[in-house]
Amino acid sequence: MEQKREEWRSKMGFILAAAGSAIGLGNIWRFPYMAGQNGGAVFVFIYVIFVVLIGFALMLAELTMGRHTQKNAYGAFVKIKPGSNWRWVGALGIFTGLAILSFYSVVAGWTVGYIFKTLRGDFTGITGPDQLKNIFGSFVANPAAAIGLHALFIVFTVSVVIGGIAKGIERLSRILMPMLFAILVLLVIRALTLGAGVKEGLEFYLKPDFSAVTAETVLTALGQALFSLSLGMGAMITYGSYISKSDNLVTSAGYVAFFDTMIALLAGLAIFPALFHINLNPEGGAGLVFMVLPLIFDKIPGGIFFGTGFFLLLSIAALTSTISLLEVPVSYLIDEKKWSRKIAAIGTGVIAFLMGLPSAVSQGASGFFSNMPMVKLPFLDFMNILFGNYSLTIGAFFISIFVGWIWGINNAAKEVEQGNPTFGYRNMWAFTLRFLAPICIFITLIYIAITGKFF
Ligand code: PHE
Repeated sequence: MEQKREEWRSKMGFILAAAGSAIGLGNIWRFPYMAGQNGGAVFVFIYVIFVVLIGFALMLAELTMGRHTQKNAYGAFVKIKPGSNWRWVGALGIFTGLAILSFYSVVAGWTVGYIFKTLRGDFTGITGPDQLKNIFGSFVANPAAAIGLHALFIVFTVSVVIGGIAKGIERLSRILMPMLFAILVLLVIRALTLGAGVKEGLEFYLKPDFSAVTAETVLTALGQALFSLSLGMGAMITYGSYISKSDNLVTSAGYVAFFDTMIALLAGLAIFPALFHINLNPEGGAGLVFMVLPLIFDKIPGGIFFGTGFFLLLSIAALTSTISLLEVPVSYLIDEKKWSRKIAAIGTGVIAFLMGLPSAVSQGASGFFSNMPMVKLPFLDFMNILFGNYSLTIGAFFISIFVGWIWGINNAAKEVEQGNPTFGYRNMWAFTLRFLAPICIFITLIYIAITGKFF
């Protein structure tokens, strides 16, 4: 007899876990970095549209697959369509989870480093952009620090996933995430009152220039929507498998998408005015927020306290995301290969660590990885685009077709209706999964292929 699958203790428990997965470096580090490189406001605008139209529908689709099958990202496809090739979509998701974890943990390591740098007063009395660039640049170019902190973050993640204390951390985030939110609001207020540059920053961030849209902008905005909501690779299938049948999946997905997007938008509202104030280039790349945030803290009374607190809370937000990234391959190995949780978590942790090494040395420590031949990008940025944009988008394409056509809306809707008998969103959901999402994604990828601008 099969054992009953472990369940979140309450609806709130699930929302906290899913929000914990969604809210992380994607909102505060990746969103401004991608927006800065893709024209600002026009990117932000398309991103929000994608969250509302496609992200929400896909989140519901993944949660529904997970709860229905009670399986991991791979097993869910096998259970609904046994013996078919659809299982490769699950396999792609599992690999993507590991790949994202590999570079995400490097950036999470920087966040941990910044807790100590802020506390030590490294950022007191900033005079200009060069100083901010130098502090960041010499920190990440030091291979021992970058690799050590990356290792440390993987060890944290693995220990939480083994100990099954994820739920404890989620409950803790119930207090910590509102604190992160409060500091973010403080940052926004301070950024908006910096004076010179604020107007330019707000224009860059909020006044779209639609003539600048390219296929790359659209793909990146879609990738960002998926990345930020933890979609397109089965994390929400996996988390959905632990939800109780009496929960309302539609409202749960709605809460998560709403809070996640709010946090990203607030982060941008703090970053861009400050960035223009100090004359940094918005296309600054993966280090963008690490150069801008310390400046704002330096201009707040008690900045050391708030800054240290902020990077600590951000590290915890990143941890609740890396837990969900690691949980995808781990639950696959437990369900399908009957590995113990401990061996599965350690094994996949080691792989993610090794895969992350080139990313860790890609910001100056290694000349080769800092400017890769052909793509002309640091390895970390390359992985971020390849897996964060392309893999998630391709995963999202197949998941919508799978739920919309192969499993079928009628079957999927039966699952949603447990816990939500009225399901008013059903027709729009069907339309999105069957047509809107796959067609949008298909057209974007074709355009990219035609223009040949893959990176
Ligand atoms: N959504 C997380 C963030 O914004 C990252 C993530 C992506 C987590 C994909 C799980 C799956 O930081």
